[in-house]
Amino acid sequence: MDRLLPVPAALDDAAADALAAQYAYPAGLTAPYVRVNFVSSVDGAVTVDGRSGGLGSAADRRVFGVLRELCDVVLVGAGTARAEDYRGARKPGRGRDTPPPIAVVTGSAGVNPKSRLLTDTAVPPIVLTLRTAPATRLEALADAGAEVVPLDRLTPDALLAELGRRGLYRVLCEGGPTLHGQLHAADAVDELCLTLSPLLAGGDSGRIAHGPAGATPRPMTLVHALHEDGTLLLRYARAAGR
Ligand SMILES: NC(=O)c1ccc[n+]([C@@H]2O[C@H](COP(=O)([O-])OP(=O)(O)OC[C@H]3O[C@@H](n4cnc5c(N)ncnc54)[C@H](OP(=O)(O)O)[C@@H]3O)[C@@H](O)[C@H]2O)c1
Repeated sequence: MDRLLPVPAALDDAAADALAAQYAYPAGLTAPYVRVNFVSSVDGAVTVDGRSGGLGSAADRRVFGVLRELCDVVLVGAGTARAEDYRGARKPGRGRDTPPPIAVVTGSAGVNPKSRLLTDTAVPPIVLTLRTAPATRLEALADAGAEVVPLDRLTPDALLAELGRRGLYRVLCEGGPTLHGQLHAADAVDELCLTLSPLLAGGDSGRIAHGPAGATPRPMTLVHALHEDGTLLLRYARAAGR
């Protein structure tokens, strides 16, 4: 892998620390910091045949893994957890004995208690849901081992307040586009890690954010650009002072 920006250099990412250093979260966080990670084709498609797998590359998978090692929690919308048949993260986080929990956002508590999220995980998933969700679903998820958190609302501020209460400050949001669109609309995205895959996907796929019309564009700064085999791995952060 090569670094193109800020200073061109070959990156020996076989030494996992080299890649981890590129993606370090800001030090001394005292509140949730939201990093969003997506892979997209160069024509902006977020899926091929309804899933992201067809867009990935070896470089993207390595960065995906390192981002998980660096975070305190993986935040994901239920649409993504269902489409991608999510299971628990496998590798322990850096400086921790256990992997980060997966926190799923679902207004309907529409997560199958028999899905891999519950059955194939080293730590209980956190289900961020609404008090108005069907009680039978909430009970079934709790019985299956989930930490069920019924909230009055699932707005970004409510979600992040809940994670912050647990000391889960290094947030890695793995999408999907609906959740990302809501985070964007609330100006809650601190950072975007975007893999651009050298593919023209065409088709009817959506893009990486889908939210309410009239959203305000947010200026971002390119922190680094990595390259391997035609894949670009871009890290953007909220522009200073915004
Ligand atoms: N290329 C990539 O990097 C990438 C990354 C992620 C996802 N994807 C793709 O994106 C697609 C899924 O897109 P999506 O937009 O449906 O995914 P999503 O944002 O993961 O899920 C949307 C669902 O999450 C729940 N949800 C999210 N925010 C909520 C809120 N504030 N309040 C209540 N419920 C909320 C709802 O679930 P309930 O219906 O359960 O209430 C909603 O239907 C999949 O095809 C996936 O493969 C691609």
